[in-house]
Amino acid sequence: MVSSVVMAPSPARAAPAPLPATDLRTAPFFQGIGYSSVWEDERVVELGLRPRPGERALAITSGGCFALQLLLADAGEVIALDFNPHQTALLALKTAALRTLDEAEVWAALGLRPARDRAALYGRARAALAPVDRAYWDARGQVIARGAALAGKQDRYLHAIGRAVTLLQGERRVRTLLEQDDAARQRRFYDEEWNGLAWRALLGVAFSRFVLDRAFDPSHFTYAREGSPAPRFRAAVERLLREVPARENFYLHYLFRRTYPDDRRCPAWLRRGAPATLRARLDRLRPATGDLEAWLAAAPDASVDVFSLSNCFDWMPEERFEALLRDLVRVARPGARLCAWTNLVNTRREPPRGRFPEIVVEDAIARAVDDGCRTPGYSGCLVATVRK
Ligand SMILES: C[S@@+](CC[C@H](N)C(=O)[O-])C[C@H]1O[C@@H](n2cnc3c(N)ncnc32)[C@H](O)[C@@H]1O
Repeated sequence: MVSSVVMAPSPARAAPAPLPATDLRTAPFFQGIGYSSVWEDERVVELGLRPRPGERALAITSGGCFALQLLLADAGEVIALDFNPHQTALLALKTAALRTLDEAEVWAALGLRPARDRAALYGRARAALAPVDRAYWDARGQVIARGAALAGKQDRYLHAIGRAVTLLQGERRVRTLLEQDDAARQRRFYDEEWNGLAWRALLGVAFSRFVLDRAFDPSHFTYAREGSPAPRFRAAVERLLREVPARENFYLHYLFRRTYPDDRRCPAWLRRGAPATLRARLDRLRPATGDLEAWLAAAPDASVDVFSLSNCFDWMPEERFEALLRDLVRVARPGARLCAWTNLVNTRREPPRGRFPEIVVEDAIARAVDDGCRTPGYSGCLVATVRK
């Protein structure tokens, strides 16, 4: 059983009629945890969303990292919304661990560090779970034993890539890559030692539509751009490995090592001191299972300051995207910020010119996020402010 309560936006309003299930929502990919971690560069929170203390935020839950980061920024309320109830259950486990365990134990309980007895750590966190989430996790002892923070389908795809690359390049070269802290030396290393024929062939396979459709689901790419995504991914990975300082890039470490290097180089919510800060604020987090469009349609006017929308626009047709924007403008408070990503495979969605004068696109900020982005996989992010 999963926690599938559709939470009404607060203050309460009539619950919207549920949207008809689309292929996407019923796809096998969503019958489990899709994402254990957010694979969008978290700098978008600070640069793009710019949360201020006391503000009300709506974040697509996914792996929960951004919802927790917004709380860390002292948001007054964070609604963590996802139509996949498994994501809601994962966030419940993470918050239960934060409530009951110390920092090192949180890492160990979730599978990011070895644990002598992970089941015992779960036993302690379990006390802080709601009955529905307790039932969910009690029935998934194997996921707990292997580490819930590694269980997402996307995470497993990334880790499979990490293993294949390590096999191809050898452990020594991977270690050398992860130690790079000088831009010129990293570029030379990539050009002279890393970038060979076999490497390019592996990239072609790992990012082919054939493999992506099996690792995710073809319905993820219903609104795909023309042509093979492999060359776009190859360019993105090349930029990442040549240009983005590898030593500090905890996303790259996660791909190869299935954990983060330390409590400085890791997602904000896990960083030293963050779990203790979060523990005191968890009551401001409202996890909810439900659909973004339905949630916005039912939300009161001018009630949200921050919208963290992941790459949800990738998965909807143009007319639903525009209907969503209309609701978003209505629900936004003056000066609200929104961020959304576009997967490299998908067609980029921008607010149609002239139709949404309230949505002021912040290209310079988006460029700054994109230029420094430490994860491959996106053609870019949209950053905007709602002026009313
Ligand atoms: C869009 S996916 C992409 C994940 C992201 N790129 C990452 O790796 O961090 C993130 C989450 O959005 C949820 N999602 C997608 N469309 C949604 C919608 N319309 N309403 C609610 N949740 C949605 C999915 O269930 C998934 O857990």
